Amino acid sequence: MSTAVYPGSFDPVTNGHLDIIRRASRIYDKLIVGVLTNKEKHPVFTETERVEMIQTVTRDLDNVEVRSFSGLLVDFAEQHGAQVIVKGLRTVADFEYEFQMALLNKALNPSCETIFMMTNTKYSYISSSMVKELAGFNGDLHGLVPNELVNIIKEKYID
Ligand code: PNS
Repeated sequence: MSTAVYPGSFDPVTNGHLDIIRRASRIYDKLIVGVLTNKEKHPVFTETERVEMIQTVTRDLDNVEVRSFSGLLVDFAEQHGAQVIVKGLRTVADFEYEFQMALLNKALNPSCETIFMMTNTKYSYISSSMVKELAGFNGDLHGLVPNELVNIIKEKYID
């Protein structure tokens, strides 16, 4: 059985993330979405909120599991029997960072492969940081995040 991990902070999950999740879930028997719980990153959304938002928007995907993790990604992948790490690429800047991470992860665990999926062009400008900035200005989040998460995300920014 092929198992892959799709890791990230998902603070919050965007339509770009969801597109990668859907596409990867068609390639691998099982896809584990790994939500990083590193507090040093100071996420706006709690671990539970981030996991639940992804669970909500992937509930129709039977082979997708959402789990939080801390520590090394290669250890998390190994613990769950995943041979592959899936990453999405939007820009050349993404590539430079991800290339380095892929080489480091390969050095840490030579049996773990990183597979890159190109973003769908219509989502190439979306990032969690942009979503949060826009939400802070009470901007329209439709098209950037799944519709059912729009109000949940905006509520975080209501004083
Ligand atoms: O969505 P992000 O914040 O770009 O995701 C980054 C993530 C979670 C993929 C990356 O920070 C990560 O893999 N963290 C786990 C720690 C780790 O294994 N680091 C690499 C070796 S130091």
